[in-house]
Amino acid sequence: MDIVSEGNYLMKINIAIDGPSASGKSTIAKRLASELGYIHIDTGAMYRCVAYQAIKQGIDLSDEKSLGEMAQTMDISLSVDGRVFLNHQDVTEEIRQEEISVGASKVSIYANVRTAMVKRQQKMAETKGFIVDGRDIGTVVLPDAEVKIFQTASAASRAVRRYKENLGKGIESDFELLKNEIEQRDYQDMHRKESPLRKAEDAIEIDTSDMTVDQVVSKIISLIAERSYYD
Ligand code: DC
Repeated sequence: MDIVSEGNYLMKINIAIDGPSASGKSTIAKRLASELGYIHIDTGAMYRCVAYQAIKQGIDLSDEKSLGEMAQTMDISLSVDGRVFLNHQDVTEEIRQEEISVGASKVSIYANVRTAMVKRQQKMAETKGFIVDGRDIGTVVLPDAEVKIFQTASAASRAVRRYKENLGKGIESDFELLKNEIEQRDYQDMHRKESPLRKAEDAIEIDTSDMTVDQVVSKIISLIAERSYYD
């Protein structure tokens, strides 16, 4: 957001967006990035890459040692236009499969895996101008982020969104099953020992159950503006 105001340039900051599965964090982060001219880092995609590669290599998703070693050596890159590359192969679509969502939730409980990912994420967002979404961004990855959002939505409204998203792709799904899966993943993310999903003390909570994407984006933009950062 390069706004000139009374001779001052608005400084770039870092924005952390945390929240449960399917709460629309990535959609909001992408929109904000394009409106503000920031770079979006989808950290969930990185845990998905760990699960994807482990399944491909036949590594047991409860084998912490092997997962940790793999997480340190694999090459993950996120392009500015939102593509995800794993060892130089485009896996953007593959990592969205349900099997990988479940797998990512399993591998992300391990300290070795998390340490390897957090290190990469901190390196990626070393400077300012990043919008980083995940579960532990405001608490662990970027505790100094200038704006922290904790984005929530009821399990039912998240299941409705997922249901419609699937319909749009021509997939008919079982609503109750979707809702149960979302609740299970919430439980797992909030009750794991390592960096459980929780709101940072200085994060602002936004319940998006009854909000449109536009409404959430403008709310966050006004929060950023309220905390104007000038040179
Ligand atoms: O945001 P997502 O659904 O793509 O994330 C996939 C999984 O990765 C999810 O189960 C939680 C985990 N995750 C995490 O533990 N920490 C993050 N910073 C991001 C995601």
